[in-house]
Amino acid sequence: MVEYLIARNADWAAERVEQDPDYFKRLSGPQHPRYLWIGCSDSRVPANVIAGLEPGEVFVHRNVANLMHPGDLNCLSVLQYAVEALQIQKIIVCGHYGCGGVNAAVDERRHGLIDHWLQPIRDIAERSTEEMSQFADEGQRMNRLCELNVIAQVRRVAETPIVRDAWARGQELSVHGLIYGLSNGRLRDLDCGFDAPPQH
Ligand code: CO
Repeated sequence: MVEYLIARNADWAAERVEQDPDYFKRLSGPQHPRYLWIGCSDSRVPANVIAGLEPGEVFVHRNVANLMHPGDLNCLSVLQYAVEALQIQKIIVCGHYGCGGVNAAVDERRHGLIDHWLQPIRDIAERSTEEMSQFADEGQRMNRLCELNVIAQVRRVAETPIVRDAWARGQELSVHGLIYGLSNGRLRDLDCGFDAPPQH
């Protein structure tokens, strides 16, 4: 299995050099990605591939169910580096329909440690019971919960001191929420973004 990866990598690297002899020389210089992507760890939702971006174009953080926990040092470190050092202007929070993490949050079974991680999604579901009750179909309810999760995480990112301080400095920065359809391969803008601090 590992040999397979190394062989695939060798083919890929050779192909790149064949198409562009300076490809890796250029990529070994400083990175200037235009986007920060906060997405789900799901193997079917790889940021570069689904957004059609090359190495060097997107700075990526992924975790189960694309969550921005206020105390998550990993995600906050990525966010700070992206905003302050890389001067990224577009932050994308990308969820996807059929998210196993979103499903596990509300399936009323015990899954272990991940139940703690997924708590914010249960909070969103509880706050949205009225809206959810409009959908007769469980699949539609879960799809909507996937969307509501993205909308909530976009707001959380916009509310972090890192992003608020960037806006206070006059830095051009916006946060956007997208959702990806596993069944059609399409990204959709949920129009829940911010380019200034959220008003309460
Ligand atoms: Co997922």
